[in-house]
This record gives sequence, C-alpha cells and structure tokens, in this order.
Amino acid sequence: MIIAIDGPSSSGKGTISRLLGQKLGFSVLDTGLLYRLFAYRTLEQKIDPNNEPDVSSFLNDFQLNLSDLTIPALKENTIAQAASIVSQYPDVREKFLEFQRNFAKNPSFPHKGTILDGRDIGTVIVPTADLKIFITADVTVRAQRRWKELQERGIMCMFDDILSDLKARDERDMQRSQAPLKAAPDAHIIDTSTLSPQDVVDKVMSFVKKIHP
Ligand code: DC
Repeated sequence: MIIAIDGPSSSGKGTISRLLGQKLGFSVLDTGLLYRLFAYRTLEQKIDPNNEPDVSSFLNDFQLNLSDLTIPALKENTIAQAASIVSQYPDVREKFLEFQRNFAKNPSFPHKGTILDGRDIGTVIVPTADLKIFITADVTVRAQRRWKELQERGIMCMFDDILSDLKARDERDMQRSQAPLKAAPDAHIIDTSTLSPQDVVDKVMSFVKKIHP
C-alpha cells in the first residue's frame, strides 16, 4: 500500500507521516529532505540558488547519500528557502523522480507499505497511490507552530519573519510551473488548523480501514 501525503510547509505532514508510519509499520520518506540536501550542497559550493544554469550543472556532481538526510542544518530556515528555489527547476525535480518512485514501490523489509510526504506525491510521483491525503492549515496557525518549534529548539526568531517566510514559500511552491503544490483531484483534504496530530492520524486511519478493512 502506498500513501501520498502532500501539503504546504509546516502543515504537520511530517508529524502525521511519522505517526502513521509507526502505527502501520510502513517505511516513510520525507521528500522535502531531498531538496533540502541538494540546496544545502549548492550553498556549500557557493552557488546562488537563483542561478538556474549553475544549479543544473552542479546536479552532475551531486551524489545522493541517504545518510546525509539526517544533517541537522537541513532543518534551518535558510535551507528551506533555498530548497524552495532550487526545487522549481525541472532538472532538479527529474534528478529525484526515480528514487522517490522506487522508494514508493519497494517498502524495505519488514515494512508492508510506504508513506511519502511532499508537495507533488499524489499528482506526479505516484499518481496511482492507494490513498492520497492533502494536509493544510491556516498560514497563521502554521507560522505559530513553526515559531513554537524553533523556540523549543532554542532558536530565537521573530514571528513576523516566520510568517512572511512561510507566505513566500507557499507562493513559490504553488506558482511554479513544474509539479506545483496542489491537491490531486482524488485526495482527501484535511484542514489541521484546529486538529491535534492524533485527530489527524485517526482521520487518516479511517480512510486506510476503508481500503483494507
Ligand atoms: O517539506 P519541506 O518544507 O521540507 O520542503 C522544502 C522545500 O522543498 C519546499 O519549499 C518545496 C520543496 N519540495 C518540493 O518541491 N517537492 C516535494 N515533494 C517536497 C519538497
């Protein structure tokens, strides 16, 4: 079974995917990390993420090493913004396409299925997914969650900066021509603004049970 979970930044899709993965015994891939890692390496090479030709030519040197997906700096805001820029380029999206499809179709033993979270999982990566969820939440609620998370990690930041960063990322992720953020026509849309993670997991589990009673 393949579950696609798409949605905007800080909508809670990462938390939901992790909780569902534990509950169902499924492999989970946070696909945003692929773009974040590539953006991180781009910045490390002093390449301007806005310079598409330079970013594209760096793709030839870039090797995806899965253990790098745990690099703590990938969680930083500067990397998130750079990831949102480089992920607009067709060559960059193409680079990670096969890897994501293979992950979706081949759960690692003893897992019985896969969960991928991102922006285009249900629309482009696995349009044949058994279950598609589109998780959303009011942008102010998302900014509050993000701000709280950063405070808890001891990272000082202004709420207004978080809010404007989120709005900029939403705009870029939704307006790009390649695989923009949007719900697949057959996705279940869940607005998590007033829901707890457990409420959302329960909702998704009710859809799972309809497929596999
Ligand atoms: O989910 P995230 O915040 O870690 O994603 C970081 C950026 O990567 C996001 O702004 C857009 C891009 N992204 C994408 O284009 N497609 C995906 N499937 C996942 C992320």
